[in-house]
Amino acid sequence: MIDLDKEIDRHNTNSLKWDFAVNRGKNKDILPLWVADMDFELPDIVIDKLKSVLDNKIFGYSEPLDSYYDTIIEWNKKHYNLDLDKRYIVNGCSVVFHIATIIKALTKDSDSIIINEPVYYPFRETIEANGRNLIVSNLKRDINNKYYFDFDDIEKKIKDNNVKLYLLCNPHNPVGRAWKKEELERIVDICNRYNVFIVSDEIHEDFVYGNNTFNSIGNIAKANYAILTAPTKSFNIPGLHTSYAYIPNNKALALFKKELVKAGYSQSNVIGIKALEIVYKYGFEWLSQIKKYIYDNYLFAKEYLESNLRVKVTELEATYLIWIDFNSYNLETSKLKDLIENKALVWLDQGYIFGETGNGFVRINIATQRSLLKKALDNIIEVFKEL
Ligand SMILES: Cc1ncc(COP(=O)(O)O)c(C=O)c1O
Repeated sequence: MIDLDKEIDRHNTNSLKWDFAVNRGKNKDILPLWVADMDFELPDIVIDKLKSVLDNKIFGYSEPLDSYYDTIIEWNKKHYNLDLDKRYIVNGCSVVFHIATIIKALTKDSDSIIINEPVYYPFRETIEANGRNLIVSNLKRDINNKYYFDFDDIEKKIKDNNVKLYLLCNPHNPVGRAWKKEELERIVDICNRYNVFIVSDEIHEDFVYGNNTFNSIGNIAKANYAILTAPTKSFNIPGLHTSYAYIPNNKALALFKKELVKAGYSQSNVIGIKALEIVYKYGFEWLSQIKKYIYDNYLFAKEYLESNLRVKVTELEATYLIWIDFNSYNLETSKLKDLIENKALVWLDQGYIFGETGNGFVRINIATQRSLLKKALDNIIEVFKEL
């Protein structure tokens, strides 16, 4: 058992979260609970196996061996009853790179791509930066701030804009939904009727809690879909740049591979390839332990915030990112940001970056020690209880 309560000094480790506050215009003492990586160390068994990769002492051009594909196939079968076929797995360096690649591969300039905001902001960025036509169908929310697809709006927008591609976040960051099978079936049904290709970003798949389940699009759609995912969130290795795409459609796969060639991308980082195999083989117990810790962090944060402030914390079905509604304070987004960053000295992701419907919300990364989380919440409560 790892002591997850133990605070770890991550300064001077090139950490985007901990080392770049001043560089990004923040106070040097700000507490960072923004970018989605975790303040937990991997277990010795994983670190020892990674060290044995270094023992090779030669790091020439590298490609995945069969064991890489077998490990991915086994993980998906065992945990999600998802049958993957090796021929359609493509290794890569990051999910966002694969998002940009598949957009370029499967759509042309000005083609329409639909997303559901609020959503992970690189969805919007990659679509717009590649000159595609962004179509947004906002998620609906009920009085408890639980979010749902707006199926009628999705269908209408797909039809009216001749949408070619649906970029789905499954599970959904930042609203914490683990989409149900029935919900995804309706999305697939709409996409089938209008010939829309579904790209499902499933990077948060392993963080689903309680009675909720992760439903991969691969268990629902029959064709015309791709899964883009990685073990990097689950095992806290995004700095090792390793991910994979699953594209069980020969035409789409060929176009995707051609786009990789156009980008000049060929062999991958050998540490990343081996890390994927190692964490999937040896990391499960650790993952189960941190998931429990994170869920307890969520329960703590919800209770603590809601009993001290006029905020609502959205139920966390999935991810380690909690979504908090500050709208009852009626603040301009810039004021909300200013109070949290400059008065409470906490660095969070402000809701507006995930789309207009995120205004007045903030997203907190709770994959950290409870003591740090409490300190951040105390600072925020201190500032807002006066308002
Ligand atoms: C939905 C989603 N996709 C992709 C990523 C990033 O993936 P990568 O680092 O592999 O590009 C994140 C990171 O938070 C995410 O939340």
